Amino acid sequence: MPLVPMRQILDEAAKKGYGVPHFNVNNMEQAQAIMRGAEEVESPVIMAASKGALKYSDMLFLRNIMNACVERYPKIPIALHLDHGTNVEICKTAIDLGFSSVMMDGSLEEDGKTPRSYDDNIAVTREVVNFAHPLGITVEGELGCLGGIEDGIGSGEEKLTNPDQVKEFVEKTKVDALAVSIGTSHGAYKFKIQPDPDKNLLAMNIIRRIHELCPNLHMVMHGSSSVPQELIAQINQYGGDIKETYGVPLWAIKEGIAAGVRKVNVDTDLRLAVTATIRKIFHDDPEAFDPRKYLGPARDAMKTIIIERYNTFGSAGHAYDYEPKTLEDMKIFYEESELQSSR
Ligand code: G3H
Ligand code: 13P
Ligand code: ZN
Repeated sequence: MPLVPMRQILDEAAKKGYGVPHFNVNNMEQAQAIMRGAEEVESPVIMAASKGALKYSDMLFLRNIMNACVERYPKIPIALHLDHGTNVEICKTAIDLGFSSVMMDGSLEEDGKTPRSYDDNIAVTREVVNFAHPLGITVEGELGCLGGIEDGIGSGEEKLTNPDQVKEFVEKTKVDALAVSIGTSHGAYKFKIQPDPDKNLLAMNIIRRIHELCPNLHMVMHGSSSVPQELIAQINQYGGDIKETYGVPLWAIKEGIAAGVRKVNVDTDLRLAVTATIRKIFHDDPEAFDPRKYLGPARDAMKTIIIERYNTFGSAGHAYDYEPKTLEDMKIFYEESELQSSR
């Protein structure tokens, strides 16, 4: 089965009311962990590569790792998505490489830091949609700015999504999915104190309002790592120095999914799992030097987190629910929906 358009994976999730994790991928072990986890619990897959991942992997290597995933797991629907595209060119590059979905993050200027004006966001996102939809490729946009600049993405200044702008933004850009800012941020340092389930952690009212106004829009929660405390403790126990920090608890993500979120972005948790595992192995066995002896366990540790996310977000058990669409099918879908909206 070729790569599946992400739009279909999200449409199917919406029909049944579950969320799908988006996992960032940079190397073979991450891709294997994501696929092994998906096979075990029968989940559809969204793998995402950032601009940094494309650079790190020389693009070609990542593309061929993805080809290997498709060949090795032919029955699992897999979407390959560009994360935080900062301009039209990078989106085109990803599409040329064979990605089935791109994010045009028009909330920020090309530097990935300065907030972009609402009108410019519409213009640049629409340009990507105009290019991508005729090829059957899914497009995610972003409205509002996440807090946090740790991964080099973000202005450092949080701007929550204004639900009153969303309908117009979606109508003008025709995006399939929209990243919303509701109080999450990228990286490990999200909250300084442990989130209290009895207090509002995230702006769920924004999610609910957008869902009322645009019931067919697939909302995306970025910055949704949960920063497991046991991984932080393990990193610090074996020589690391991660300061006190808390992530987005799984209960908050479940609330988001119940309110209409369909894609939940996770990167940091897999980084923490790798680091905690490798630090412990190096501590316990200072003579270790065969990379397979630490990258293999690191891959298993990522798989444990991945399975937990598939189960918690509800995508587990849904890999074989539907006949995957091709990009050709999506071309026809977009042509018809353009025709309908111009009538
Ligand atoms: O949202 C950002 C992702 O965590 C990707 O991070 O740009 O360091 O690959 P990266
Ligand atoms: P985390 O840093 O919380 O894992 O978020 C990742 C993300 O949003 C990727 O786009
Ligand atoms: Zn993100």
